[in-house]
Amino acid sequence: MKMYIPVPTKFISSFTEALPFDVYVERSEGIYTAIYKKNSSHDEKQLARYEEKNIKNLFISRNDKLEFENFLINLNDLEHYEKTHIIEILKASLELNFEYLDFASQELQTNLELATQNVKNSLYLLENDLQMAMDIFKSLASSSHLLKHSYMVSLFSIVLAKRLGMKTERVILAIGLGGLLHDIGQTRMDQALFLKNNLSAKDWEEIKDHPQLGLKILDHNNCINTEVRSIIIQHHEQFNGRGYPNRLHNNQIFPPAKIVAIADGFCSLISLTSYRKTNKTPKEAIEIMRDDLGHYDPDYLEIFAAMVLQSKELK
Ligand SMILES: [Fe+2]
Ligand SMILES: [Fe+2]
Repeated sequence: MKMYIPVPTKFISSFTEALPFDVYVERSEGIYTAIYKKNSSHDEKQLARYEEKNIKNLFISRNDKLEFENFLINLNDLEHYEKTHIIEILKASLELNFEYLDFASQELQTNLELATQNVKNSLYLLENDLQMAMDIFKSLASSSHLLKHSYMVSLFSIVLAKRLGMKTERVILAIGLGGLLHDIGQTRMDQALFLKNNLSAKDWEEIKDHPQLGLKILDHNNCINTEVRSIIIQHHEQFNGRGYPNRLHNNQIFPPAKIVAIADGFCSLISLTSYRKTNKTPKEAIEIMRDDLGHYDPDYLEIFAAMVLQSKELK
């Protein structure tokens, strides 16, 4: 595991107050020097020079990981920061969620609180259109596939829920968090499975365990409510009752899980995976989903289709 966590220089420079963790610069490959000590003020001019030199990332030692996570969780008053800076903060925070998170560890609670904060920050950034969603997503270009997929599903699910007229903050937050955590069970599986070109029937059976594995990870954790759990366990159920794990039918499926299922299907089709070498355009993806009769809730799908097909950001 890496000993230093990269954080965007822009993120560090967006704070004028002292930070509760040491900040390092990578002088040469693998050689890190502390440039700011925790709880002491930092030199804005020096930070500006790092930015001028195009040093995109500074680093935080893993020893300060908890302080850093708690700092992110307690970040309030987002209106004091520029939106571009909040995107940088989100990026750093999401990467911590996915790269440094061992869901089996005692750090689970902090990590889930961080995931909740990440969704709250996204809600703050997101307006009802897809522009901001796409801007945030682009900033994650170099992140892991699971992070990008999970976050994209979270954003598209939130936007679709709003289009469907859902307004209650608790519901929207559950949908965003359910979207972010829907495939978290995959972190407990043999990662080689996700790099294979051709998956055997046995491989698919194994992959189909990920909703239950996801629930198991979150067992006994009170920061994740029933709504989020239902989304995780039901995101592969289908309208026609042919989904997994419980072959639920239309009325038996929790509506937010139907929303996440649509965002999940769409986001998978438009991105590359090891077993799908060519990605689809948004228009092609919608056609494939429409042709897959009985898979998705048809009313939700049409509202999603209208939203995607009218969006200039997705052209
Ligand atoms: Fe999944
Ligand atoms: Fe997924």
